[in-house]
Amino acid sequence: MVTTWWRCFNGGMPEALNLTADLFAGFPRQPSRETLGARAAVLRAFATHQAATLIAEVSQVSGQAPFRHLVTPGGYRMSVAMTNCGSCGWVSDTSGYRYDERDPLSGRPWPRMPDSFRELAAAAAAELGFVGFAPDACLINRYEPGTRLSLHRDSDEGDLSAPIVSVSLGLPAVFLWGGPKRSDRPVRVPLEHGDVVVWGGPTRLHYHGVLPIKDPGDLSGRWRLNLTFRKAR
Ligand code: SIN
Ligand code: FE2
Repeated sequence: MVTTWWRCFNGGMPEALNLTADLFAGFPRQPSRETLGARAAVLRAFATHQAATLIAEVSQVSGQAPFRHLVTPGGYRMSVAMTNCGSCGWVSDTSGYRYDERDPLSGRPWPRMPDSFRELAAAAAAELGFVGFAPDACLINRYEPGTRLSLHRDSDEGDLSAPIVSVSLGLPAVFLWGGPKRSDRPVRVPLEHGDVVVWGGPTRLHYHGVLPIKDPGDLSGRWRLNLTFRKAR
């Protein structure tokens, strides 16, 4: 049976809560680590066991703070849909990029960050020696097939000593892992459901992005979700 967990994100509330277990059954992957650079690594299958919980929590968050397509400072609509949870959230509009304690759509504080999110982020960061990572912001990206995230670096945060923890769920993606300069040629890193990327310290400001998500070709309308944890303040 194929469980349509992605439908959870259309209206907010989950339609199916036994989400990924059977969809991804038969493809168990063993946790392993691939080093990307100094204090940067892919933790393969690190979030597989918590994935269904994380996805259900995303559904709760997006029920309160819906996914939306932000506008870049240059006036372009971003193809990736975004929302946030935590004490502040990353937003963009024609006045620039920033962290805001409130959701500009509703004027209300962002939904609180679920404990399952905090615990996973702290555990992943600790694997790279970032003990005590306490993110205050979780940006949730939703990619439809065909959408991409161009090369950028995460530089709007007040605390650059804290790492970035980035969790992949749903459709696979190719992550572009670059260097300190935009012109550094990125390596292509395939990411699957349950993989977690951590980077910080000397690589904290490295450029990165996501190639267009491949269409699974079955008209199912599936998505990729990415949770990016940061210490913004
Ligand atoms: C990001 O850089 O904000 C997200 C990266 C990803 O989706 O893997
Ligand atoms: Fe980023």
